[in-house]
Amino acid sequence: MEELKKIAGIKAAEYVKDGMTVGLGTGSTAYYFVEEIGRRVQEEGLQIVGVTTSSGTTAQAENLGIPLKSVDEVDSIDVTVDGADEVDPNFNGIKGGGGALLMEKVVAVPTKDYIWVVDESKLVDTLGAFKLPVEVVQYGAERLFREFEKKGYKPSFREYDGVRFVTDMKNFIIDLDLGAISDPVAFGSKLDHQVGLVEHGLFCGMVNRVIVAGKDGVRILENHA
Ligand code: 5RP
Repeated sequence: MEELKKIAGIKAAEYVKDGMTVGLGTGSTAYYFVEEIGRRVQEEGLQIVGVTTSSGTTAQAENLGIPLKSVDEVDSIDVTVDGADEVDPNFNGIKGGGGALLMEKVVAVPTKDYIWVVDESKLVDTLGAFKLPVEVVQYGAERLFREFEKKGYKPSFREYDGVRFVTDMKNFIIDLDLGAISDPVAFGSKLDHQVGLVEHGLFCGMVNRVIVAGKDGVRILENHA
């Protein structure tokens, strides 16, 4: 699996050329993309500016000597490469397994060529087996949690070692165990209107291409919509 992630990450780096502003994703697959960009910066003198999607990716990029700018300092991003937790045939996906969905979406929106790198286990017919992460402000989070319970969303606060996880943006993550999301676009819009919920992990139709590494090689799924 690790080898497949690496293949996808390195393949995605082919889309990066001199002079580009490049969104650097978060997670164990995007890690290999960032690593390859760092190698090219160091060994080939690649000239790019990176925009990161989490404090973890910032630390990795700084260690590799990749020049960085904040998303506030750029008007647009040429290409962003990020991972995903699930991808359906309509180019809808769930992200946020690594807890960085808010920053990831903020970077994805001004991106001209938005690319996901996944191993083939991430391709699904219907989203929702992976719990949908939603990022909520701390104030009122318990009340929101109870509201999700009443709606049957089977929420759980994201915790690591028994400690509630706080995102880089100082929010909580609530994971929703929805089973199957029959209409991700409609469900995403519903969540968009939930006060106290800052962002959700449904990224519907945003991605331009998905690089899928599998046991039979690499496939590139192009979203022509
Ligand atoms: C982090 C993300 C990741 O991109 C997603 O969880 C996929 O991660 P990985 O490549 O480690 O499976 O959305 O918030």
